[in-house]
Amino acid sequence: MDDISTLTLRDGTQVPRLGQGTWHLGEKPSDRKAELKALRTGIEHGLTLIDTAEMYGEGCSEQLVGEAISSYDRNKIFLVSKVYPWNAGEDRIFKACRDSLRRMKTDYIDMYLLHWRGSVPLEETAACMEELVHRGWIRRWGVSNMDMEDLEELWEAPTGHCCQTNQVLYHLASRGVETVLLPWMRKHDMALMAHCPLAQGGSLRSSLLRNPILKQLAYEKDCTVFQLMIAFLMSDPTVIAIPRTGNASHAEENAVAAKIQITGNEMTLLNKVFPAPQHRCPLEIV
Ligand SMILES: NC(=O)c1ccc[n+]([C@@H]2O[C@H](COP(=O)([O-])OP(=O)(O)OC[C@H]3O[C@@H](n4cnc5c(N)ncnc54)[C@H](OP(=O)(O)O)[C@@H]3O)[C@@H](O)[C@H]2O)c1
Repeated sequence: MDDISTLTLRDGTQVPRLGQGTWHLGEKPSDRKAELKALRTGIEHGLTLIDTAEMYGEGCSEQLVGEAISSYDRNKIFLVSKVYPWNAGEDRIFKACRDSLRRMKTDYIDMYLLHWRGSVPLEETAACMEELVHRGWIRRWGVSNMDMEDLEELWEAPTGHCCQTNQVLYHLASRGVETVLLPWMRKHDMALMAHCPLAQGGSLRSSLLRNPILKQLAYEKDCTVFQLMIAFLMSDPTVIAIPRTGNASHAEENAVAAKIQITGNEMTLLNKVFPAPQHRCPLEIV
């Protein structure tokens, strides 16, 4: 396996800073073979952190992940999955987690996330997460799509400070998290997991891919614009990125991107073309 730079979580665990997303994977039987190959190619190249959710294909993604990791030493894989907000209370979370474990054919999840905030009180979800840790079903937990006020409220809950990550949308053309959320998370030693690192879908992506300055910079660095987007996120040692691909060559390219260094001058250029906002803006969601 290639060496991917790591980040140390608050509990001392080292995790690779580049992993693999799996949204929309596992949904089409005709793509299954290629998707398994892509995930396994990623793992072979060090992308051993794999992100999934009970929501993705209503369990199909978790099943695919379970199959993809079955031939590897489980201890070498860092599995992230997410619980629906309406399953995140004491009446449903234990069944939801057990179902995820069954689909992935594993007996623990490395990081279990609340997918987004719903109507279950954060205090209740935090207590349930700690109970799941106590039972050994999950090793640690975090949240997703939470802005600073939600995190502050969570922090006030009796076990809220045990939350170790917040997974939010972050990519080169969407840098709102840099204003207040990312500094708050750094201060509280909470890793940021960047979802949609390649700006999947929508007009932003096509404008990014067509951007002449980005294309020129990629050409000069002998990489693709996608790799540059990953390298941008990797330049912050407190960030983990989880690009998704169902294509083995892309998985390999993504792993290579973890090693691309962006120089000071190049970062100045990127900041000019894709500046972080000056003022706080609402957290982007998909
Ligand atoms: N917590 C949340 O609410 C939330 C929300 C969204 C996403 N996520 C997580 O974050 C992961 C990543 O986000 P995402 O799936 O929305 O999108 P993404 O990673 O930003 O983009 C995925 C797209 O990029 C393409 N791609 C990947 N590598 C490429 C490469 N090297 N060259 C060219 N194209 C490439 C993929 O197509 P190919 O398959 O053809 O390569 C796919 O169309 C998800 O899969 C999921 O695990 C979490």
